[in-house]
Amino acid sequence: MLREIGAKAAYSDFPVLPHLFSFDCALNDRKKRVLRHDSRLVTPSKHHIPPTPNVTIHAMSVVSKGLEGIVAAETRLGEVRGSEGVLFYCGYDINELAGKASYEEVVHLLFYNHLPNRAELDKLTTALRAERELPQGVIDFLKAAPKDARPIDIMRTAVSMLGCYDQKRHDIDVSENLATAIRLVSQIGVIAAYFHRARQGLDLPPVRKDLSEAAHFLYLMNGEVPSVEAEKTLDVAYVLHAEHGFNASTFTARVVASTLSDMFSAISAAIGALKGPLHGGANEGVIHMLQEIGSLDQVDGWVEDALAQKKKIMGIGHRVYKVLDPRAPHLREMAVQLTSQLGETKWIDMSERIAQIMRERKNLNANVDFYSATVYYSLGIPTDLFTPIFAIARMSGWTAHVLEQWSENRLFRPLSDYVGRSYGQKFVPIEER
Ligand SMILES: CC(C)(COP(=O)(O)OP(=O)(O)OC[C@H]1O[C@@H](n2cnc3c(N)ncnc32)[C@H](O)[C@@H]1OP(=O)(O)O)[C@@H](O)C(=O)NCCC(=O)NCCS
Repeated sequence: MLREIGAKAAYSDFPVLPHLFSFDCALNDRKKRVLRHDSRLVTPSKHHIPPTPNVTIHAMSVVSKGLEGIVAAETRLGEVRGSEGVLFYCGYDINELAGKASYEEVVHLLFYNHLPNRAELDKLTTALRAERELPQGVIDFLKAAPKDARPIDIMRTAVSMLGCYDQKRHDIDVSENLATAIRLVSQIGVIAAYFHRARQGLDLPPVRKDLSEAAHFLYLMNGEVPSVEAEKTLDVAYVLHAEHGFNASTFTARVVASTLSDMFSAISAAIGALKGPLHGGANEGVIHMLQEIGSLDQVDGWVEDALAQKKKIMGIGHRVYKVLDPRAPHLREMAVQLTSQLGETKWIDMSERIAQIMRERKNLNANVDFYSATVYYSLGIPTDLFTPIFAIARMSGWTAHVLEQWSENRLFRPLSDYVGRSYGQKFVPIEER
């Protein structure tokens, strides 16, 4: 039974009761042990649980609202160092990759844990392009689905349907599932683009094998091959969104995978988690916010009102980054370039002012979603495809995490902190209640 010995206490205030506490509470020197997903206690060198009002310590466990500061498992895929503003994939800083590595190279990095040589990249690219064709049943669904459905919901459903067409879906063999992962990375963009065309009553052009992942999505969406610049912009956005540690959707995928469910279930659950406005849905929220504000001169008043009403400003703040999200400057630069080329700088001007106010007033920074909204808008992508683009790019990270989960699986099963009616209630027959 959990025995609460401290309520909502900051670590530094917490009394040390070693005889009650298997958990090392020598917190003043901040060398803390953390619970791994297998419930063993480890003392990591780099993970520090920050003092936070959201953490309550019990005799046998730590209650951390939103799992803040909890290390749930190990990963070789990526790390977010929030206090330094550093993100890296398999050891490569995001600043090393963005603008240099293609999305396909990053997919290789995540799936095989190294950047590919030319032959390896060709092999993966060929495999990805060979898998673009969707089963006819999924195409029929995309055509028949309600035209006003949200594309992200269609993608979640279509991924689930893909599972019904995969004879080996219950097999958790890693090489089988690597093939599934490649297929999902390849097909997710086709699903989004085809639905976008189908909802407008447009034809669905046959898939092509001569275009990169980013170019192929834009080609299917618009029915014409994109400019090199548009392809490059989307490719960099894909690279920036591919992986991000144990974010909510990736963690969701790993939790589902940990039950030894199948890849399609894990990924449809991840898409469901991503769409929320506190996660990947924020990029759409940013454009809605900019549209609602309307013009630069309205920004200050709108933000002040929103803060007074304790509203969240979309695209601002982050659970892990306490300094600038390292992805944001790349997207900001692309947004500045694109809007100035279009001769329409209104959105970026407004965004810059919002970011400045939030830095000054709340010490909060723009996150990945803040500037990506203007980038996608400037590429002519409809707002309700912004979160789908996040899902397309993150498919590589999600599937890589599912494979990693299975390679060293242990069921995720945290405890909860029961705060309900006291134990021992007696059953009263319905007539007597
Ligand atoms: C990302 C996010 C969910 C992280 O949330 P969190 O770690 O749980 O942080 P909290 O919601 O507890 O916020 C901590 C404080 O910062 C404030 N805050 C955080 N993000 C804020 C935002 N976007 N706008 C206004 N205030 C914000 C909270 O109001 C709170 O202030 P308080 O202590 O005075 O009450 C949160 O920053 C957010 O909702 N951002 C907007 C949505 C978004 O862009 N999501 C994409 C993330 S990549």
